Amino acid sequence: MQRSSRVNLARAQRRGWGGRLTVGRGGSGAAPFYFRGRVRDALAAAGLWAAAAAAIAAAGGQRMREVNEVLALVPDSAHGAQIFTYCASCHTESVNRLPEGWVPKIAGQHPRYLVRQLIDYRHSVRWDARMEPVAQGHGVRGLQDIADVVAYVASQPAEWGGEAKAVSGNGRTFYDDHCSGCHGSGGEGSDARLVPRIAGQDFAYVLRQLHDVVDGRRPNMRASHLRALEDLDVVQLVELSGYVSSLRAHATAGAASLTRSQGAARVGDSS
Ligand code: HEC
Ligand code: HEC
Repeated sequence: MQRSSRVNLARAQRRGWGGRLTVGRGGSGAAPFYFRGRVRDALAAAGLWAAAAAAIAAAGGQRMREVNEVLALVPDSAHGAQIFTYCASCHTESVNRLPEGWVPKIAGQHPRYLVRQLIDYRHSVRWDARMEPVAQGHGVRGLQDIADVVAYVASQPAEWGGEAKAVSGNGRTFYDDHCSGCHGSGGEGSDARLVPRIAGQDFAYVLRQLHDVVDGRRPNMRASHLRALEDLDVVQLVELSGYVSSLRAHATAGAASLTRSQGAARVGDSS
């Protein structure tokens, strides 16, 4: 599916969408993971996948407009901190309400990526039984709330230390060949291109996302992403996730560089 979309960076830069990034904390260990039904295949068999893909593509322009609207707002980080007290019931390490691997690290993640994900959950093109209601009103009531909470979350000191564990050379080789072009050689991602930081992300979460992509359960992901993953077997996905989660994120890449760069670049993003 093809979706053309634009983020107005210049406006966002003027409004101070920076983001302080620090790194450090290691993550957690073993993965509870399982295969879901092959959603994409099931929809395809029912003749529904093409319709679902078309609907998602059609909604793409509207979603990127909303992302731009959020980025054009002046974020109130103090209000974002208040909102985050609600998010913290799941998004902290100390409170383990959900099984391991369910909740990603988000503190210090690239702000544009965070905005985009909240908008995608809001439009139900990223599927999750917890996050869709959060983004549709339970946690954030509207675009200003998204701006506020993302400004807060992205500016939080984050610990993306990389998990200390044995990593297979296969994971590294595959990552360098197939993933580093977008996610960066160190997994740092790119705020401007809405590519998430994945270095040091929770192992089980990464593994679950890769499965979800292959299973057609993360339909907002671009088709090229699916192609990069779909020929891998379980062992390879585990090796790849192990390698990614072991990487140590570069502290000053991504969001922090927003404040340095000038100019009226509008960045395209397609999927
Ligand atoms: C009930 C638990 C719960 C609450 C409350 C919650 N989250 Fe989440 N959040 C999750 C889970 C689980 C995921 C992973 C979902 C998935 O696999 O798509 C997630 C994913 C996310 C993501 C995507 C991160 C990524 O790396 O792609 C963002 C952004 C996010 N949450 C922000 C928030 C914000 C902001 C709030 C508060 C307004 C919040 N969440 C409240 C459980 C929660
Ligand atoms: C064409 C560029 C591109 C390539 C190649 C690519 N990615 Fe991504 N990746 C992205 C983008 C963009 C997103 C965010 C998608 C979205 O908005 O939902 C993403 C999302 C992810 C996520 C989800 C992160 C989160 O917090 O939920 C993981 C994990 C990931 N990629 C791993 C990989 C791995 C491993 C490879 C190599 C096999 C890879 N990617 C190749 C661009 C790419």
